[in-house]
Amino acid sequence: MEMREELKKRTGEVEAVVESYLPKEEGHQKTIFEAMNYSVRAGGKRLRPMLMEETYHLFGGTEKAVEPFMAAMEMIHTSSLIHDDLPCMDNDELRRGLPTTWKKFGYDMAVLAGDALMIYAFETASKAFSMTAYPDRAAKAIQVLAEKTGIYGMIGGQVVDVELTGKPIPQEKLDFIYRLKTGALLEASMMIGAILGGASEEEGKRVEEIASAVGLAFQIQDDILDVTSTSEELGKPVLSDEKNQKTTYVTLVGLDQARADVAEISARAVSLLKELPGENPFLENLITMLVERKK
Ligand code: IPE
Ligand code: IPE
Ligand code: MG
Ligand code: MG
Ligand code: MG
Repeated sequence: MEMREELKKRTGEVEAVVESYLPKEEGHQKTIFEAMNYSVRAGGKRLRPMLMEETYHLFGGTEKAVEPFMAAMEMIHTSSLIHDDLPCMDNDELRRGLPTTWKKFGYDMAVLAGDALMIYAFETASKAFSMTAYPDRAAKAIQVLAEKTGIYGMIGGQVVDVELTGKPIPQEKLDFIYRLKTGALLEASMMIGAILGGASEEEGKRVEEIASAVGLAFQIQDDILDVTSTSEELGKPVLSDEKNQKTTYVTLVGLDQARADVAEISARAVSLLKELPGENPFLENLITMLVERKK
């Protein structure tokens, strides 16, 4: 099958998994369920759960226990976007082609929806314990999920990103921000797939390294698209970084160098991936595609 068709099919499968773990919209606190589901259902590329599932298969995993983790990952990612768009952060009004959660449900509900999705993700991931013959792997996976989401991961990166808004940032510090704010959740996605699939400690480390490179290239490409794409194509505003006076890879090294860096870093990721035992050509294509993406 052609890669584009294959990707569409798999995206649909991931969507169905994520959907099956969303809360029912009922009860006195119905608004929170609506706000959570609105943001998750708005769409998105579903890359993180897809990378998780493909890495799981690379290591020979066959259980359904990966599915609550896939849903959890997309919930955490979506919660990071809801908070990232808030007026006190990037102050953006469009996400995944729709009004951002705060525009639609108000600032108060958007803060709560982000919190809710982040913690519901752990409630969801914990369902894996009753679906697996390897509870020790699920325990390790939850630990990685928490670490890569929190202060040593995505949140830590967002802190430095927000703190240095409007200020010059040396490249080495920008790399730190990107490895955490964006890289950490991609690392968690691939590492959890590997861990649940029974990867060794050493293999887990190599997967982390690959995903870290993917994350860095992915965020540089995000910066490039912020200045080269359109909001119709992206489903989010363009020139958001300029509006917020962010130092980005593009402002730091220029568009041409940023493009060259994306190509180099993603090629490194693919060659490291090929050194792992097992083969998954779809995963290789996916990594190449996602860094060359147009949205
Ligand atoms: C956007 O992530 C935020 C970044 C880390 C750059 P995606 O580009 O994966 O967003 P969706 O999930 O497709 O909406
Ligand atoms: C955000 O980086 C990374 C997150 C942890 C959400 P950006 O602020 O560049 O993401 P976009 O461009 O709004 O999606
Ligand atoms: Mg941001
Ligand atoms: Mg943003
Ligand atoms: Mg961006």
